[in-house]
Amino acid sequence: MSFYLPDEVVCNGEKFKVMISEAELQKRIGEIGAQIDRDYEGKKPILIGVLNGAFIFLADLMRHITIPCEVDFYKLSSYGDAKVSSGEVQQRKDVDANITGRHVILVEDIIDSGLSASYITNIVDQKKPASVEWVTLLKKTEALKYHVDIKYVCFEIPTLFVLGYGLDYAQEGRNLAQIYVIEDEAGKGK
Ligand code: IMP
Ligand code: MG
Repeated sequence: MSFYLPDEVVCNGEKFKVMISEAELQKRIGEIGAQIDRDYEGKKPILIGVLNGAFIFLADLMRHITIPCEVDFYKLSSYGDAKVSSGEVQQRKDVDANITGRHVILVEDIIDSGLSASYITNIVDQKKPASVEWVTLLKKTEALKYHVDIKYVCFEIPTLFVLGYGLDYAQEGRNLAQIYVIEDEAGKGK
């Protein structure tokens, strides 16, 4: 399958340019999939995606994992339509699976402040899983305000607004097959 891979896009009237190409994404996700294969051999982990943003990353990650595994989803309230977080998180959907005693791998598109991830970690811990780890496609290293241990990070990025591959700007741009960065902020490094 070949996807639409423009170098630049306009989303909600703002210009974005490619930051991580489709080839780079797939290569790195393949490496993380292989690492999960090794770490969870014989354990049948359950991958739990955080909706909406993680759905494309999770779909590709799962196909790079070759050991038996399951899937489920949490849904949290999102950023709304702004580029900065409201600082409030609400659960919109719980997992359906019984995760007590299971090896849980939580899957995020991006860790920014860490608020969403720490909120979900607390909910999951109460269900007494056998183990819990996080895998994220992106991590804004400098933006972390809430401490969360993230075992698998595909890419560390500066504190910039990014789009595509599941990540949105006011709900648009999730269908882009690469990660794009907002052009105005691209040269600033922060
Ligand atoms: P946190 O709770 O501050 O870590 O934010 C995590 C959530 O905010 C992610 O799951 C994304 O849905 C969203 N988010 C954070 N940064 C960006 C971005 O640069 N672009 C799009 N969504 C983002
Ligand atoms: Mg998200």
